[in-house]
Amino acid sequence: MPRFVIRGGSKIEGEIRVSGAKNAALKVFPVSILTDETIRVAPVPDIEDCACAKEVLLAIGGKVSEGEKGALELQSRAPLRTVKLPEKLVSKFRASIMFVGPILARFHEVEFPHPGGCVIGAAERPIDMFLDGFARLGAKTTVRNGYYRITAKKLKGNTIFFPKVTVTGTESMMTTAVLAEGVTVLKNAAMEPEIPALAEFLNRLGARIKGAGTPTITIDGVKKLGGGEYAVIPDRIEAGTFAVLAAASQSGEVIIRNVIPGHLEALWAMFDRTGVNYRLEKHAVIVRPSRRLSAADVVTHEYPGFATDLQPPYTVLMTQARGISLIHETIFDRRLLFTDILSQMGAKIIMADPHRIVVNGPSRLEGKKIISPDLRAGIALVIASLIAEGNSEIENIYQIDRGYERLDERLRGIGADIARVDGE
Ligand code: EPZ
Repeated sequence: MPRFVIRGGSKIEGEIRVSGAKNAALKVFPVSILTDETIRVAPVPDIEDCACAKEVLLAIGGKVSEGEKGALELQSRAPLRTVKLPEKLVSKFRASIMFVGPILARFHEVEFPHPGGCVIGAAERPIDMFLDGFARLGAKTTVRNGYYRITAKKLKGNTIFFPKVTVTGTESMMTTAVLAEGVTVLKNAAMEPEIPALAEFLNRLGARIKGAGTPTITIDGVKKLGGGEYAVIPDRIEAGTFAVLAAASQSGEVIIRNVIPGHLEALWAMFDRTGVNYRLEKHAVIVRPSRRLSAADVVTHEYPGFATDLQPPYTVLMTQARGISLIHETIFDRRLLFTDILSQMGAKIIMADPHRIVVNGPSRLEGKKIISPDLRAGIALVIASLIAEGNSEIENIYQIDRGYERLDERLRGIGADIARVDGE
């Protein structure tokens, strides 16, 4: 089993470049099914979730070829080999749900098992808002031997109100409605930056989408989409994660490049409150050691609020800040369970309830043998190991490789003492 072996305490300084956004790039694979023309996408981060998305596209009969400079060219000519999503791949990652809408929209039928992947989120990571949305567009869903089968002779535009803000739910309905007859209005839609980026791309293919990035998105359905190019935006979560690592390590100047600072305003607001010494440039953020870090409460919230994906790294930062901080995780169940491992490393954390913890800092962390529970908890435990005293070993790093390309290599580039060790 590959694992990370980390010796804590080394000086973290230097330059690190942020990759293309995981949660933007992996969605282009399903979205490419909406057209029979070629879609070019770059840069595609070399991570497991994108590899899974590529495998699903190939499994149903799509074509993927390497373009120049690491670009990928995707094409799904009719008819697909199958409209049935492969169980073994779909169970590996939650975002596979994004394939359902485009297949339904273009081929009028689709079959899939319950999407798997993250253990976070309510049991089974519900997909009720997806099924309700497809029904609103006129589709019929039946369930047989653990597979959902959705059919629709013709999708018709409608109004869809999301009872909870859902990122992939918003993206899914947007990418399904583009080929529906008539107008669809999405209400209480998610506003994460990956959504307007996806809408702008679809509009370049010939879609007619307005309001992406606001709570109300209007999609005027068209008969057909053309081909085009998708430039993947920088990964705001990776950028924020590296900035928190630099702030928590308190050891040297770290320059993080390929950043859109406007995508991380909630994090900068927390840095202001905690006294992190940082400076924003047009496409970079520079973090230096600060005189002292003060504890500050945080509540996770849909964009533009504080990202749930940055809560685990922020919690590690709070173990190094002076004072008491309340961390309130409002989006996902189970996303605070990893703090039990932080406590075993020496952090002073009380779990008030499944959605709230109280951190009392600063505390000295000690290296430990760790199993990474999920993607963002995994990276938070890498940060904790890098600032801890002594050695740590982190297993189940598949979870971390899902979202951070060549992580150990890039962290070594800023002085981290981290090695990827395969086998026993
Ligand atoms: C997206 O997940 C991201 N994943 C997540 O990133 C991110 O944490 C999350 O948005 C919130 O920002 C991708 O984009 C691939 P949701 P998503 O639907 O869309 C509930 C990472 O680390 N819900 O916005 O799956 C759900 O249980 C991943 O990169 C329903 O109840 O999240 C959650 O409590 C983790 N019914 C809440 O809504 C549904 O039908 C928000 O989930 C759908 C969701």
